[in-house]
Amino acid sequence: MKAVRVHQYGGSEQLKIEHIPRLNPLAGEVLIRIYAAGVLPYDWKYRQGQFKKFRPAKFPYIPGSSFAGIIEEVGADVTEFGKGQAVFGRSEKGTYAEYTTAPIKGLSLKPEKLTFDEAVTIPGSALPAWLTLFHNGGLVAGQKVLIHAAAGGFGNLAVQLAKWKGAHVIGTCSTNNVDFVNALGADTVIDYTAERFEQKASDVDLVIDTVGGKTLERSWSVVKQGGRLLSIVEELSKEKAKEREIHIIKPSLHSMPSPEKLQKISRQIAQMLVEGKIKSVINKKFLLHEVQQAHELSQIGHGRGRIVLHIAN
Ligand SMILES: NC(=O)c1ccc[n+]([C@@H]2O[C@H](COP(=O)([O-])OP(=O)(O)OC[C@H]3O[C@@H](n4cnc5c(N)ncnc54)[C@H](OP(=O)(O)O)[C@@H]3O)[C@@H](O)[C@H]2O)c1
Repeated sequence: MKAVRVHQYGGSEQLKIEHIPRLNPLAGEVLIRIYAAGVLPYDWKYRQGQFKKFRPAKFPYIPGSSFAGIIEEVGADVTEFGKGQAVFGRSEKGTYAEYTTAPIKGLSLKPEKLTFDEAVTIPGSALPAWLTLFHNGGLVAGQKVLIHAAAGGFGNLAVQLAKWKGAHVIGTCSTNNVDFVNALGADTVIDYTAERFEQKASDVDLVIDTVGGKTLERSWSVVKQGGRLLSIVEELSKEKAKEREIHIIKPSLHSMPSPEKLQKISRQIAQMLVEGKIKSVINKKFLLHEVQQAHELSQIGHGRGRIVLHIAN
């Protein structure tokens, strides 16, 4: 099969297209012919070696974690899924490739009405956004949520899901994305290049930070007493939280719901996409051999929606 592989940490030139043997599904797994793979900021950060201290790479590796595709073969003991079914999910074996294997416990059926490119935004963006808002963040209807980077692959779905839940949504983005974030349904959109968000946001129940640095630092002041500050990208000071009577949240793999619960949420999100309650926004599609350009675009950090590798038709 054709696959993108990385043999050492470095720039986008380390993403090489190679021909390698196809994997065989083990018991409880399926082999998937991949049609679409999500390109996440994590993928290029990992390739650069940003996580090498706590999650060192085993070279060579295939980047990517989210996929949508068709089951080509089932492993021993697999009865819940069969050859030919269209599915989406996550794989630890890498997804920038024509095939991957994945355990069935992380697999969901793709509704016919969703394209593979749309479906791949569920495991890569909508599911993490759902878990961040509702599972970790505890957001409920009527609360006020501030979502930083509201236009991004993660943020655009966070805005839509929070709105669907009945929250009052404030989103930050740059000038170019203001109309886009408004159209997603945000109640207030703050152009962070033109104004300080603290001037428009206050008494917030929940802040979702995916930016870090000064943005996170300044976010403390807008959270109401007893409210929650959640950062996906940085550690938060326990002392400061105590002093200000704010709950801090750092989502981790340990706080994930069970695989059954994740499947149930994924099915619900897929149904919401089919019914048009939320939409999947694709920034740009690239073919497998254009993977270097896909990473270079993601690295700019000013995306609108998710970048997708369109691997098969
Ligand atoms: N699966 C996921 O999606 C996931 C899961 C866990 C963690 N994360 C992390 O969350 C971060 C964002 O992920 P993503 O997938 O949404 O990235 P992305 O698609 O590349 O989007 C990044 C967004 O950040 C915005 N931005 C940049 N500087 C900003 C600032 N100072 N204030 C407000 N917005 C700013 C950009 O909007 P403008 O162009 O409008 O500036 C852009 O839309 C990354 O660090 C990623 O590793 C993502």
